[in-house]
Amino acid sequence: MLELSDVEVRFGGLKALDGLSLEVGVGEIVSLIGPNGAGKSTAFNVITRIVHPQAGRVRFDDIDLLELPPHAIAGLGIGRTYQGLELFGSMTVGETLIVGYEAVERCGLLSGAIRSTRCTALTESAHRAAREVARRLDLDGLWEQPVTALPYGVQKRVDIGRALVGRPRLLLLDEPAAGLTHSDLDELGDAISRIRSDLDVSVLLVEHHMPLVMSISDRVYVLDAGRLIADGSPEEVRSNQRVIEAYLGVPVGEEHA
Ligand SMILES: Nc1ncnc2c1ncn2[C@@H]1O[C@H](COP(=O)(O)OP(=O)(O)OP(=O)(O)O)[C@@H](O)[C@H]1O
Ligand SMILES: [Mg+2]
Repeated sequence: MLELSDVEVRFGGLKALDGLSLEVGVGEIVSLIGPNGAGKSTAFNVITRIVHPQAGRVRFDDIDLLELPPHAIAGLGIGRTYQGLELFGSMTVGETLIVGYEAVERCGLLSGAIRSTRCTALTESAHRAAREVARRLDLDGLWEQPVTALPYGVQKRVDIGRALVGRPRLLLLDEPAAGLTHSDLDELGDAISRIRSDLDVSVLLVEHHMPLVMSISDRVYVLDAGRLIADGSPEEVRSNQRVIEAYLGVPVGEEHA
């Protein structure tokens, strides 16, 4: 489904990605891990066309993503959350989810007089899609609540919901567990697994929380300073010597224990 080949990104003298190759297959949960500054978010920015690589190829299905502008990415079926929260303070849960529906915001910019039947249909579809996602993520009871009034863990779930409303086939999650409590973490792992199976979404997950990564991933790629140092099943990666060294000698999965 997604294939990065030999992707290179330089910021001035810094090589943020130095020949990254990775694949995500249909229905897979694949994780990309590595120490701070390894290049994980940069890889997401390459896929969503925020950062243009100096070299390499990025394909989604049979489409060359590097030929496309950033605004075309969501329409292809790629949804994304950002590291930290990118929620709009004054909006309710319902409004936040609806905005996630591709192109619906363009209708809101039109005056009533030229509001086309196409826009009315689009708005109705957006409502339906948002309600459906709210139900799946246990957010329907919170529809009218301002997002910022909710506990952090719930806000993160709204953020994932927003990325899902456009019905992506590939979901990119950048550190969804950051700042969550233990019980939130279990819920998040369950939610990601359910999303994959119920909505037929493949997931590429960037995450520092190793118990979560190891429990839900089919495969794991490990980046260090822009270079891939290992990939394989969670078990293979956990016992890989280079991975253990990159994590300062702490066996992977025990640093949060
Ligand atoms: N737009 C940019 N301009 C200059 N340097 C950048 C830019 N974006 C990222 N970098 C640098 O590229 C490197 C990789 O950054 P990136 O954000 O991809 O790391 P990361 O693996 O996501 O780290 P973290 O786990 O802390 O989120 C870092 O050294 C970072 O400072
Ligand atoms: Mg990052």
